[in-house]
Amino acid sequence: MGQKIAVIGTGYVGLTTGACLSHLGHEVICADVIPEKVDALNRGEIPILEAGLEELVNEGRQSGQLRFVLGATTAAAEAEFIYLCVPTPQGADGSADLSYIRDAAAEIGPVVRPESIVINKSTVPVGSTRVVEQALGRSDVHVVSNPEFLREGSAVHDFLHPDRIVIGADDQSAAIRVAGLYLGLAAPLQVTDPASAETIKYASNAFLATKISYVNAIAAVCEAVGADVNDVVLGMGYDRRIGDAFLRPGPGWGGSCFPKDSHALVKIAEDAGYDFELLKGVIAVNDDQFTRVAAKIADAAGGDVDGVTVGVWGLTFKARTDDLRESPSLEIIGRLRSLGARVRAYDPAIEAGTDDPRLEGIEVVDDPYAACEGAAVLAVLTEWDEFKWLDFDKVGEVMTEKRVVDARNLLDRSPLNRRGFVVDGIGR
Ligand code: UGA
Repeated sequence: MGQKIAVIGTGYVGLTTGACLSHLGHEVICADVIPEKVDALNRGEIPILEAGLEELVNEGRQSGQLRFVLGATTAAAEAEFIYLCVPTPQGADGSADLSYIRDAAAEIGPVVRPESIVINKSTVPVGSTRVVEQALGRSDVHVVSNPEFLREGSAVHDFLHPDRIVIGADDQSAAIRVAGLYLGLAAPLQVTDPASAETIKYASNAFLATKISYVNAIAAVCEAVGADVNDVVLGMGYDRRIGDAFLRPGPGWGGSCFPKDSHALVKIAEDAGYDFELLKGVIAVNDDQFTRVAAKIADAAGGDVDGVTVGVWGLTFKARTDDLRESPSLEIIGRLRSLGARVRAYDPAIEAGTDDPRLEGIEVVDDPYAACEGAAVLAVLTEWDEFKWLDFDKVGEVMTEKRVVDARNLLDRSPLNRRGFVVDGIGR
């Protein structure tokens, strides 16, 4: 039977969680603090690009199983289960800033029903379940940790087909009640204590970031010894202990999670008396990767990009999202601009004229060929599939030099080489 659920926060995680839970048959009220956002969601307008989300939101709105309201208390007062899905941004010292989650818990504390369960989905440092309990101030309400493992762009799919469901609870009956919300999903269920659940989230994200930094470092070795990283990864991936997932070399990792969570884990370890040198190295390799890619682009322009126009394909932190947060593309563009380059960029998810301070100084255009106009180098920085199928005769005609730095190893090289392009990639 469907349960009454409140979801506090309608960002990527909250909106996906709310829409998917209503799809699973629950009665869900999502709350946010921004009136315009709530109004738009009530009209069925989705503020983010996320495959399948609009359909689920509309399905829920039409059946009445999914509603959006302003303010956490309205939603929380009626619910048996209250999900906290508020941001935990990186604070000044690298640690996660818990103020949103503390405020949300303190706000709903006086109104939540006795015996309801507060479920924390925000990524929070070990021990934060206790912080939520304290802010809530209710001994008759359980707080449970239930980390999310949703990738942007495929969050709906990841929610409905999870690799695992992790529930961290001190109270077994609370854990079982939360597990019941996911009936119908085929996935291993792990019930553990809150500290372990919180650690699983950080350890997973940091490990995935480690895999990517590792492969980017191997790519640098490949370049030095004349090997091809694509073949190396293929050969490694046949070993089932290694696997080939998350070993795609690229311009470095970014997004709203890996950078924040890896820094937070370094800080969590440091506060606990452990110097996490391995993870610091992973972060350093990533920063270095941005610089290495910028240097490749400068090399392609003859060693100096001062006054040179660089065409860029891809601004978002990865394909199939419109998210610019901590985008490697923007990191690399920043480095190029500080070397004097003019950057003209195209991204399928970012409109020309988008008013976003992160795009300041970048000429964003609505056409991939326009981005190449007068450019001495084309840099492919996000792996949008459509870049593969563009007309490279046309690209060659509008560029001043036929030089490409493919930082995602996305493009098929032979047709480019046949057209006289000089192509550099990562680790090849
Ligand atoms: C990541 C995790 O994958 C999710 O499991 C997790 O739930 C989420 O963070 C979160 O903590 O909320 P996401 O940030 O959406 O998801 O992005 P990913 O698909 O993991 O990609 C992160 C970055 O790594 C991107 O910049 C991507 O381009 C890069 N990447 C990924 C590579 O360079 N190579 C790869 O092989 C894979």
